[in-house]
Amino acid sequence: MSFLNSIASLHIFLFLLPSILCKPCDFPAIFALGDSNSDTGGFSAAFGPLGSPYGDTFFHMPSGRFSDGRLIIDFIAENLGLPYLSSYLDSLGANFSHGANFATSLSTIIPQNITLAQGGYSPFSLDIQAMQFSQFQSRSQFILRKGGMLKSLMPMKDYFSRALYIIDIGQNDLTALYFSNSSAEQYIHDAMKAFSKTIKSLYKNGGRYFWIHNTGPLGCLPYVLRQVPGDQKLDSVGCAVVFNELAKKFNRMLNETVAQLQKQFPVAAFTYVDIYSAKYLLISHATKFGFRKPLMACCGHGGGAYNYDPKARCGTSVNVHGNEVLIGKSCMDSSKRVSWDGAHFTEAANKWVFDQIVNGHFSYPSNSLNMACYNHNHKSF
Ligand SMILES: *[C@@H]1O[C@H](CO)[C@@H](O)[C@H](O)[C@H]1NC(C)=O
Ligand SMILES: *[C@@H]1O[C@H](CO)[C@@H](O)[C@H](O)[C@H]1NC(C)=O
Ligand SMILES: *[C@@H]1O[C@H](CO)[C@@H](O)[C@H](O)[C@H]1NC(C)=O
Ligand SMILES: *[C@@H]1O[C@H](CO)[C@@H](O)[C@H](O)[C@H]1NC(C)=O
Repeated sequence: MSFLNSIASLHIFLFLLPSILCKPCDFPAIFALGDSNSDTGGFSAAFGPLGSPYGDTFFHMPSGRFSDGRLIIDFIAENLGLPYLSSYLDSLGANFSHGANFATSLSTIIPQNITLAQGGYSPFSLDIQAMQFSQFQSRSQFILRKGGMLKSLMPMKDYFSRALYIIDIGQNDLTALYFSNSSAEQYIHDAMKAFSKTIKSLYKNGGRYFWIHNTGPLGCLPYVLRQVPGDQKLDSVGCAVVFNELAKKFNRMLNETVAQLQKQFPVAAFTYVDIYSAKYLLISHATKFGFRKPLMACCGHGGGAYNYDPKARCGTSVNVHGNEVLIGKSCMDSSKRVSWDGAHFTEAANKWVFDQIVNGHFSYPSNSLNMACYNHNHKSF
């Protein structure tokens, strides 16, 4: 018994070794690629501003974020002691001294043929974001060398190899895939190839530390549930099974892809973060965690039980006798709700998810955020 106990504690000791032996990482910057889950103003800068009540809770004005307040990436920046990320596309007041954000809402891994004007996707797909990153890197270093007043807005040269690279993308690929006739297997396979290609290009440009979010339970989002045909199966929580299965399939392949990249780049450190499980835990046990109505949008108008109507989304106004009247309003208390606008989480839910993932409990390897510069080779001490 005591022998087994000591084996067990030895095992725990070995497991904890990296955190005992290694200093926390010192990330001087964050570079982010992705979709609306991390967009801090890119879509707004390119295609026009979001209106109130977006941003009302924290920024007290629309901040280009698809939420009432902060996103997971904002809580990550706060935790690492870094300022909120400016969007690369934002030409006004941007400060890139501690990183840049290339994520835009409606971005996909695989470039789509349906334009935004046709109700489609962002033209800034993952490959384009990687090219923008390259452009940013050479341009910012040119400006730094030149000196002058813009110098203090640029990241230092060594930041590119010391930064944390955060990638959160795939959700829009899954909806694109669902409404196309392509095979899921083939599409996700192609998406993984494109994903690897982007990581390789970031690596080639100096990136070493990668923090990769998998995709959340798509089938639990009000905007998806609203479109699900009546004969579709819902699980015990009320989420659409087919969409969640698609997300899980994507995540399994992403996890494999990340493992392969880790093998291919042994000096880099990859952390795969299981956002899906954290979000599903919140949605399936919302009451236990102090939340209500997890499948109903807080902000919106009409749309039945999901409070989501594509014609009266969050922030929508209508003209009544010559006056603009906001109908897509926020619920009373967004701090108790999971879904903000039917497609994105509230700040409160983003914070809850962040609190789950920051310590490594949902990650592989199980590095906390501030240890994400170490790879799992350290486990085999
Ligand atoms: C840019 O951000 C850095 C870090 O927050 C800050 O020290 C610097 O003063 C900022 N530059 C300008 C011009 O605001
Ligand atoms: C877009 O169109 C091109 C040319 O027809 C095709 O090869 C490609 O597969 C299409 N992409 C998607 C995502 O449907
Ligand atoms: C999918 O296939 C059906 C039947 O072949 C066709 O009517 C439909 O237009 C296709 N949809 C897309 C997005 O290609
Ligand atoms: C991801 O893959 C690793 C092995 O590379 C495995 O241990 C882990 O359980 C997987 N994580 C998820 C969430 O599937």
